[in-house]
Amino acid sequence: MKIKKWVVREHVEGVPDVDRVYEKVVEELDVDLAPDEMLLRTLYVSVDPYLQGIALDTPLGGHMGADSIMEVLEAGPLAAHRPGDLVQGFGGWRSHLVGTGAAELWQTGTFPMVFPAYRRLDPGRYDDALPLSTALSVMGGPGMTAWGTLTKYMTVRPGDTFVISGASGAVGALVGQLAALAGARVVGTTSSPQKADYLTGLGFDTVVTYRHGDGADTIAKDLARAAPDGVDRYFDNLGGAVTDAVFPMLNVGGQVAVCWQWATQVGNEGVGPRLLPYLMFPRATVRGVFSLEWFTEENWQALHTELGSRVRRGEVVCDHTFHYGFDNIPTAYDSLYRDRAVNRGKVLVEL
Ligand SMILES: NC(=O)c1ccc[n+]([C@@H]2O[C@H](COP(=O)([O-])OP(=O)(O)OC[C@H]3O[C@@H](n4cnc5c(N)ncnc54)[C@H](OP(=O)(O)O)[C@@H]3O)[C@@H](O)[C@H]2O)c1
Repeated sequence: MKIKKWVVREHVEGVPDVDRVYEKVVEELDVDLAPDEMLLRTLYVSVDPYLQGIALDTPLGGHMGADSIMEVLEAGPLAAHRPGDLVQGFGGWRSHLVGTGAAELWQTGTFPMVFPAYRRLDPGRYDDALPLSTALSVMGGPGMTAWGTLTKYMTVRPGDTFVISGASGAVGALVGQLAALAGARVVGTTSSPQKADYLTGLGFDTVVTYRHGDGADTIAKDLARAAPDGVDRYFDNLGGAVTDAVFPMLNVGGQVAVCWQWATQVGNEGVGPRLLPYLMFPRATVRGVFSLEWFTEENWQALHTELGSRVRRGEVVCDHTFHYGFDNIPTAYDSLYRDRAVNRGKVLVEL
């Protein structure tokens, strides 16, 4: 049978230029199924910002992958699903496809990712209030991202100031609403006054407009006005200048969820903590440490007993590099930056 699909014909870094990246192909699909294969018809396809990276990692000529909802038209006797079943999975930008629906490893070059096996959608779970298409939104990946962040990681206390960058999208809008329900004061960023009104209508307390490329100073001032008591929770959905502005505003015990870093990864914005993209896949937590928090008599005693004894026993080495004389203090200090090769351990000046 004849099917249509979008293939990647050029790898283009940065903001996707879809005319250059994609090419539509009509081709003859072999529907002679193996025992474990299915013929599926695509009903819904999801488009998501992360597809920019997927496109870059798709071999030229390969079809564009994407989350989708599909109906099983035909199935071999050993197939995972039966004709008539509705499934959600990474079927891609294809009108029809043949496949087993098994989990698929995707070595993206940045993170090894596994696209899960197609999951059967129970029609009984969907109705007018939650139509089938929500299996790609609030009842799918975006919903799971928002709900999971707020139930598995972030604790939201009434009165917390909760900032969300890129708030108007599928994930951000949900996070904001859930945070508001938990009693937080919700501040969002979005690119236009119209979307700001939209977010206010959803229950955001304050919305700051920020467009990619706007000055970092402007967003910092606007956020300082919007969150005068600092930031307790930050759902980072954008990165770049907004993240640059939020980090110095974090309150003691602040929590940051790094969801994505559009500005850094796609927008090539030269600001923003550049390593944050690497926190998402390993679900690493960033927590600040500040030694003063441990300056108690009890801790000093413990330090001596535990670490001091280890140094005494030679289990732990504590080197020093000494400089001598008052005049050499600047030289000693400068050595921290320049002649560091000779330094070992703690640099000290003996007067
Ligand atoms: N970590 C995870 O598990 C996970 C899961 C799902 C999604 N994600 C990622 O999280 C992000 C949000 O997902 P989503 O589904 O909410 O995406 P979305 O619906 O497309 O929303 C993204 C938002 O980013 C904002 N944005 C700001 N500058 C932009 C620019 N220059 N170009 C495009 N958008 C810009 C847009 O807001 P304005 O219109 O106001 O500019 C847009 O509403 C995406 O990057 C997605 O890939 C991560």
